[in-house]
Amino acid sequence: MTLLIYGAYGYTGELIAEEAVDRGVDTVVAGRDAVETEHLAERLGCEGRPFDVDAAAENLDDVDTCLNCAGPFVDTYEPLVDACLDTGTDYLDITGELAVFEAIAARDREAETAGVCLLPGVGFDVVPTDCVAGHLHDRLPEATELRLGFDPDGGLSAGTLRSVIEHAGAGGRVRRDGEIVDVPTAHRSRRIDFGRGERNAVAIPWGDVSTAYYTTGIENVEVYAAMPKSVERALRVGRPAAPLLDVGPVKRTLQSLADVAVSGPSERRRERGACYVWGEATDGETTVTTRLETPETYAVTVDAATTAARRILDGDQEGFHTPASALTPEFVLDLDGVEGFRDE
Ligand SMILES: NC(=O)c1ccc[n+]([C@@H]2O[C@H](COP(=O)([O-])OP(=O)(O)OC[C@H]3O[C@@H](n4cnc5c(N)ncnc54)[C@H](OP(=O)(O)O)[C@@H]3O)[C@@H](O)[C@H]2O)c1
Repeated sequence: MTLLIYGAYGYTGELIAEEAVDRGVDTVVAGRDAVETEHLAERLGCEGRPFDVDAAAENLDDVDTCLNCAGPFVDTYEPLVDACLDTGTDYLDITGELAVFEAIAARDREAETAGVCLLPGVGFDVVPTDCVAGHLHDRLPEATELRLGFDPDGGLSAGTLRSVIEHAGAGGRVRRDGEIVDVPTAHRSRRIDFGRGERNAVAIPWGDVSTAYYTTGIENVEVYAAMPKSVERALRVGRPAAPLLDVGPVKRTLQSLADVAVSGPSERRRERGACYVWGEATDGETTVTTRLETPETYAVTVDAATTAARRILDGDQEGFHTPASALTPEFVLDLDGVEGFRDE
């Protein structure tokens, strides 16, 4: 059984490719740059296959699963999904992009007909929160509202912060009565105990606004991230991008993460970081809560993506799936260093 990793010489793709080879998975590394792809293949002692996403079909014929690590995924998912459907190849990716989840979910029937599994979001976005959603739904199947959130130790990663800033101008998103609706940026905030005392938390337009609905059927979903009040105020008054970078805490966070923004977190940071994940579901009368503690978000991404790819290689899932629907909510507990579920 062969796994092809596309975007394998990017920061995250390379970590995942190393891990897959270490775990003995028959791995092909791929990407659009021939020199980078061949260098990596040589270093890892596996096959390298350079190609553009538009030429994916002729390069996927002999592989069982394609794991797409080439983001922004809005630019790469479609030709790769098309090629996977054409060649009967299972498709996974590490997107967190709401629009990409929705577009792939819309291809559920095509995937069933082709006997192919489409499983986006097997990184930190959205494995832990999606498993929390599935776990809460198992505990309260009649829940009508779901709230999910996360609090990374040391603040939001540069990548996460960049996404929040980039999307600030486009407003927020929540799911209401089954539909994804636009709301003002940072339209809601509350105090949440993610697992290490109460923090200020702000609603953000995260991937789970799409995926949690497919996992649970719960029609009202909001996602929160822990952030300082000053950042919340800046987001709310509609100061995206540049002006926001002048807000003290944001600027300090970005400065302290400057190296991360360029090349991703260091090995030391990946080993030492942590993240606190929380979820709450209610049917209006009963409310259930659960919490997880995970390693640093990139460490979770590498472990989750590699473990998910291996399970899909060995499994027979078909159609569109979320991590918890394909792999069960307990999947997150199989990842290294994850502790939970801490139920209330
Ligand atoms: N789900 C999660 O929790 C999670 C965690 C980590 C990262 N991510 C996401 O994963 C993606 C990769 O992150 P990263 O840190 O590894 O970034 P990176 O180091 O910039 O790597 C991006 C990779 O994608 C390739 N790529 C980009 N656009 C492409 C296109 N149009 N066609 C073909 N290849 C293309 C790049 O190739 P070139 O160098 O040739 O452009 C490179 O190999 C990002 O979107 C990031 O947000 C998600």
